[in-house]
Amino acid sequence: MADIHTTGAGAPAIIRRSDYRAPLWLVPDVALDFALDADATQVRATLAVTRNGDHDQPLRLDGEGLVPLSITVDGIALTPDQWSMDGSALVIPLSGNAHAVETLVTIAPAANTQLMGLYASGGLLCTQCEAEGFRRITFFPDRPDVLSRYSVRMTADKALYPVLLANGDPVASGDLEDGRHWAQWNDPFPKPCYLFALVAGDLACNADGFTTMSGRKVSLGIWVKAADLPRTAHAMKALKDSMAWDERVYGREYDLAAFNIVAVADFNFGAMENKGLNIFNSRYILADPETATDMDYDAVEGVVAHEYFHNWSGNRVTCRDWFQLSLKEGFTVFRDQSFSADMGSPAVKRIDDVRILRAAQFQEDSGPLAHPVRPESYMEISNFYTATIYNKGAEVIRMMHTLLGPERFRAGSDLYFDRHDGQAATCEDFVKAMEDGGGIDLTQFRLWYSQAGTPRINATLTHDAATGEAILTLSQAVPPTPGQPDKKPMAMPIRIALFDRASARHHGDALLHLTQAEQSFRFPGFSAPPVLSINRGFSAPVVIDSDRSQADLAFLSAHDDDPFARYEAMQQLMVNVLVGTVAGQAMDDTPVIAAIRDTIADSKLDDAFIAEAIRLPSESYIGDQMLLVDPDAIHLARDRLQAKIGATLEQEWRALHARTEANGFSLSSAAKGARKLRNTALLYLSASGAKDADAIAFAQFDRADNMTERQGALAVLASGIGDHREAALDIFYNRYADDALVLDKWFQTQALAFHPDTLAIVDALGRHKDFTLSNPNRVRSLYGAFAANQWGFHQGDGAGYRMVADIVIALDSLNPQTAARLVPPLGRWRRFDAVRGGAMRAELERILATPGLSKDVTEQVVKSLE
Ligand code: TRP
Ligand code: ZN
Repeated sequence: MADIHTTGAGAPAIIRRSDYRAPLWLVPDVALDFALDADATQVRATLAVTRNGDHDQPLRLDGEGLVPLSITVDGIALTPDQWSMDGSALVIPLSGNAHAVETLVTIAPAANTQLMGLYASGGLLCTQCEAEGFRRITFFPDRPDVLSRYSVRMTADKALYPVLLANGDPVASGDLEDGRHWAQWNDPFPKPCYLFALVAGDLACNADGFTTMSGRKVSLGIWVKAADLPRTAHAMKALKDSMAWDERVYGREYDLAAFNIVAVADFNFGAMENKGLNIFNSRYILADPETATDMDYDAVEGVVAHEYFHNWSGNRVTCRDWFQLSLKEGFTVFRDQSFSADMGSPAVKRIDDVRILRAAQFQEDSGPLAHPVRPESYMEISNFYTATIYNKGAEVIRMMHTLLGPERFRAGSDLYFDRHDGQAATCEDFVKAMEDGGGIDLTQFRLWYSQAGTPRINATLTHDAATGEAILTLSQAVPPTPGQPDKKPMAMPIRIALFDRASARHHGDALLHLTQAEQSFRFPGFSAPPVLSINRGFSAPVVIDSDRSQADLAFLSAHDDDPFARYEAMQQLMVNVLVGTVAGQAMDDTPVIAAIRDTIADSKLDDAFIAEAIRLPSESYIGDQMLLVDPDAIHLARDRLQAKIGATLEQEWRALHARTEANGFSLSSAAKGARKLRNTALLYLSASGAKDADAIAFAQFDRADNMTERQGALAVLASGIGDHREAALDIFYNRYADDALVLDKWFQTQALAFHPDTLAIVDALGRHKDFTLSNPNRVRSLYGAFAANQWGFHQGDGAGYRMVADIVIALDSLNPQTAARLVPPLGRWRRFDAVRGGAMRAELERILATPGLSKDVTEQVVKSLE
């Protein structure tokens, strides 16, 4: 893989998958010595390097912002003519095949606003190296196929940094003069440098233990600020559940004597799987009923599991190059989704996962940033930690699981881990292991890795009265995406059932293997036309276009025994009404209201499922169904339908709201489901326009003993113009003013509100004393949320675009990674009218004209304008 060179004034260089070459030099062992200090940390690195293959190329070490203070080879200091800099990389010609190369650099963690490399966060020093942050710490071949054994020594002021952690196992520690102390950690497992980590700080530990299936004892530690210790119990439970689950479901055991997690407040992403030392965004560790919603609890469980599962899918088997990112991320997301399904309700988990996929990945796949699960090129790898790599990647693994069944899939995964343990592997290696271990031919299926775009499946069901056959014809088309005008038909599993109308039963699921552009499947034994239930369980990540009538969708909303398909029928029923209304047609909404009434009255359904099923599709999902998005018309249509559902079923909402009131707090599935449904009932009651709705919402807000109900009520109040809006927001702010994670909710709730003044409100919040560009969570809570608020962001005069573009420009010089993630909402300009689209493009052009723009933002903007 070629290194990145910025070509002077031009666009950043493009890195291509086809340019991959094995590393010229390997580094089997590394010793790092850190003299830690927030302003000036000295890093001494000793690399045992070996020539890889027969060549005479020099050693080339990546660096970013580093100046070599000294360089020695085999203990002898180099003179200036014995090394050179090529851009920011250090180049050292070496005569032999194996040498010890030592470099010394000084870095400044407190000045590191990018949060990549070694940085300071709330008095801690911590690292983030994936994807290319290690080169900001020391000179090194910063690529995932160079695997090394690390030994790490840290010295630091003992009062400021009493706890010193690194990867692997603690070896020794001691005190020094001048109030300093030291610790030594060794990691016996060879790893790429993106998995390196250290943490220094004043941390308290929730200490626990786990005994692995072969009887080894592992010490577990979750390290946080002392005041946060009471909020770590849920994360610890999730960790132990994950360890047991990976043993039971994948036969994978933990491999070190220690496993530590540290929570930090300033973090670019969710969390990081550093070997033996996971570092987390604190929002995915800390939870208690007062400050965390049920969704937060589930997110903690899911992310703890995700990072833990990376120990095998990512660390023991890592990626050969960054084009293979989905090898670890898609697989690990699939693993964490399966785990969470097992821990709670599989039906509701699947519905939530599909909703996320559609909201984030389908949108990405239909726009200018669409890319395959295994990309062919990139400018900045940080831009490729996308919904396509993660969530579509997980769907691709899930389809293999569906095609193979659990036992053969397990045989494939066992073979994969056995074959590639200790290696840097490729997506192709994974597929091959599934073929060899599972006994299947995945030749055509591989297109899922190379073709971007969401396939559209057209489904037509006909009935032949003479033969008694139902005939299902499926045709598929994969839309063109950037660089891929023509697509081949893909292979996918489509799960269906055919319902008899009279009995509302079916004769079992059929798993259809769609492989051709058009294919027909015949099903005998139907004296009358059945009702089609298709893509059950969302067996393939595709869009289904079918000609099913509103009556058939209503039938499935009441009778489908596949929970996802039942939910989906109801959503489709609603989407049809809403899209028709937006297009100016007079739509009959009675089937929607009847379906909601019947669903809430169905005693066989649990509360969590009901809440999912009766919720209206989001404004942006409605927009995604249209060629040209009309945000105002969509908002109006959805708002009116919501009001009508609210008013027509007002008594039902009152009864439901009362019925779901809890007597004491519990985290059981039933209690969580009841809270979810209670918030939904409150939403509809408020939409009904009932005079006392505002007071009922405020009472829920005021009396709640948990954040789920308090925030649910706040969201309802924040979208209204009622008397309690300001009061509730003030009370909430004052109650949680010194809790950063809850304050994020205060910003986010206002940015997501359906309020006519959202733009002005967000603008004012950007100047609030608690707003800061230096904390990514805060930026995402305000501007990330606002850009996802279709109605607010796309206000007619384009002021929302200007506001977000201003933030992108201001943030770019501090934290380009986080700035770049705010660009995609502006890149959807083709989907809006000429005035809006023009205004969005103008903002992209303005961003691009900013001098010194980062590679991260440049790539996103250039691709969005193409
Ligand atoms: N590998 C991390 C995960 O579990 C992702 C990640 C964490 C990351 N920090 C990052 C990606 C910083 C890019 C930049 O999914
Ligand atoms: Zn991951």
